[in-house]
Amino acid sequence: MRVSEFYQTRVVAVDADQPDPALLAEAAAILVAGRLVAFPTETVYGLGANAFDAAAVDRIFAAKGRPASDPLIVHIYSLAQLDEIAVEIPPVAWALAHHFWPGPLTLVLPKHKRIPANVSAGLETVAVRMPNHKVPHLLLKLADCPVAAPSANRFARPSPTLAQHVFDDLAGQVELILDAGATTIGMESTVLDLTVPVPTILRPGGLPIEQLRVVVPNVTYSPRYANLDEKATPAPGMLLKHYSPNVELLLFDGTAAAASAALKAEALLLQAAGKRVGVMVEDEQAEALAALGLTVAALGQRENVTAIAANLFARMRDLERAEVDVILTRTFGREGLGLAVWDRLVRATEGRVIHVL
Ligand code: TXA
Ligand code: MG
Repeated sequence: MRVSEFYQTRVVAVDADQPDPALLAEAAAILVAGRLVAFPTETVYGLGANAFDAAAVDRIFAAKGRPASDPLIVHIYSLAQLDEIAVEIPPVAWALAHHFWPGPLTLVLPKHKRIPANVSAGLETVAVRMPNHKVPHLLLKLADCPVAAPSANRFARPSPTLAQHVFDDLAGQVELILDAGATTIGMESTVLDLTVPVPTILRPGGLPIEQLRVVVPNVTYSPRYANLDEKATPAPGMLLKHYSPNVELLLFDGTAAAASAALKAEALLLQAAGKRVGVMVEDEQAEALAALGLTVAALGQRENVTAIAANLFARMRDLERAEVDVILTRTFGREGLGLAVWDRLVRATEGRVIHVL
């Protein structure tokens, strides 16, 4: 057993556009000292530690209750850092980095021996990304080390898009939370494996596959979840149960009209059976469903998958807090960010998708 430490967690506001250098210098000193800082990125909040310090990285796993088999992403602020994290970097990696960094794309590359084994769960590879946010940019620059950072939630919980979510999950486990308000994308980065013959998406995320294809036309994606498809070798960290609220979730997949109708019918049945029912739906459905006595979390307008992605994790947490017995929601296509939304919802329901014709 690891010794668990307890911190008086401080949450400090920081301006996303003009972060206070004195505050970030203080945060950087905590990282350099081998302790943990939670910070915003354009995707979700991360829980950071010095990636060169194995003991500091261990603290991340302990704080999150995360299995040691689930590898972390190393964050950098400058391309010059890439050579000290990865080796045998293929030309396509440089092309992608120039095109999409800073941004919501994580590249899996052969690992440099300087990166401790626990960062990448004992794998020979390492995941790297450069966040597009001024707070981590300056923080990493001042700390002058790469920073290993998973999403700053307890293991298997929805990723945090607000500093409050980090506090709710990790109070006492992290020394400092930098609060720069809501993250803009709200979905984690797209993870792309470049150590295999054909560049392969391991996790759809904030950078849509359609955009990746512009630079890597042969990029492929086929979901490899642990415990759904027994024959497929799961991608590391792709446990099916993930991103889950502490409440049962029912997911309806089909055309917008069919899935919405099935969702509403089931919600009313459950309500009639005495359950407190939460529904996570597009804005257009919100009023009518609320009028039926359902607890509604509105995700954004139906055609605005960017808004739906940005709001998904926060609305899951809202419904949890409203103490509903069950949450009903639907998929929102697979185009653009819709694919990441689909992936997170499928995993939140552990693959129990209700297909509606
Ligand atoms: O947007 C994001 O990516 C956020 C922010 C904080 O940067 N981070 C994040 O980290 O989502 P995390 O730990 O929640 O997810 C990292 C996932 C792992 O679960 C695994 O699926 C994949 O990235 N990963 C990391 N290293 C890998 C490796 N060496 N090989 C394959 N997959 C890896
Ligand atoms: Mg995570």
